[in-house]
Amino acid sequence: MLIDTHCHLDFKDFNDDRNDVLKRARDSGVMSIINVGSSMEGTARSIQIAGDNDFIYAAIGIHPHEADSVSKNDIRLFAEFLDKPKVVAIGEIGLDYYKNISSRENQKKLFISLLKTAKDADLPLIIHNRDAHSDMIGILKNIAGNSARGVMHCFSGDEAFLKTCLGMGFFISFTCNITYKNAGRLREIVKLVPMDRILLETDAPFLAPQDFRGKRNEPMHVRYAAEEVARIKGLDFHDVAEMTTDNAIRLFGLKKC
Ligand code: NI
Repeated sequence: MLIDTHCHLDFKDFNDDRNDVLKRARDSGVMSIINVGSSMEGTARSIQIAGDNDFIYAAIGIHPHEADSVSKNDIRLFAEFLDKPKVVAIGEIGLDYYKNISSRENQKKLFISLLKTAKDADLPLIIHNRDAHSDMIGILKNIAGNSARGVMHCFSGDEAFLKTCLGMGFFISFTCNITYKNAGRLREIVKLVPMDRILLETDAPFLAPQDFRGKRNEPMHVRYAAEEVARIKGLDFHDVAEMTTDNAIRLFGLKKC
């Protein structure tokens, strides 16, 4: 049994066949899914999807891409999501200096205010980080201290950044992009992460595995990420499934079902 620890089933990409997608996930051995909010509306939908489906949990977050348009009132409303049922994490939140869709100043402001808003809730963090390593670590250490409970989602950093994240206590999550032909560097990173710190995710609808590139991704494909980790580490697929599932249950406090 596998857990897809990060996907976006609330996106309109799934409006026509969301229930079929969920059924395929269940039938292919996906035990639980964490649906990750990336905007105010997406977070509200995420909580609703979790409410409607036993095996789905919600994470609440506002993506750095949204930073230019988030108001103070949004942050106040965001705080009300913290107490909703089946909310297991804060995310995705973070910094994206690769696409720079919102200004870096606003991204930092949003990230800091969400971290502060969520601080007392004591929920694990789901962090989005692209090309913002030093600002990311600086902000986290300032607010959360030297140790943090959470995951670096869709890891894309180098070895030095990996060491810093592991040292702070973060889990490291890999998507199906580790199957890409040109992902040799990322596969080297996979080798360096201890098995008790790895999580798996699809980030669906994004990042479909190599065999499906250019198509919509979906949670049942999380097994491609598991197969690739098994291949890279020379482990049995079932062992990788069991260890990564245990990791997700431990970090997010999920129930076994
Ligand atoms: Ni995502």
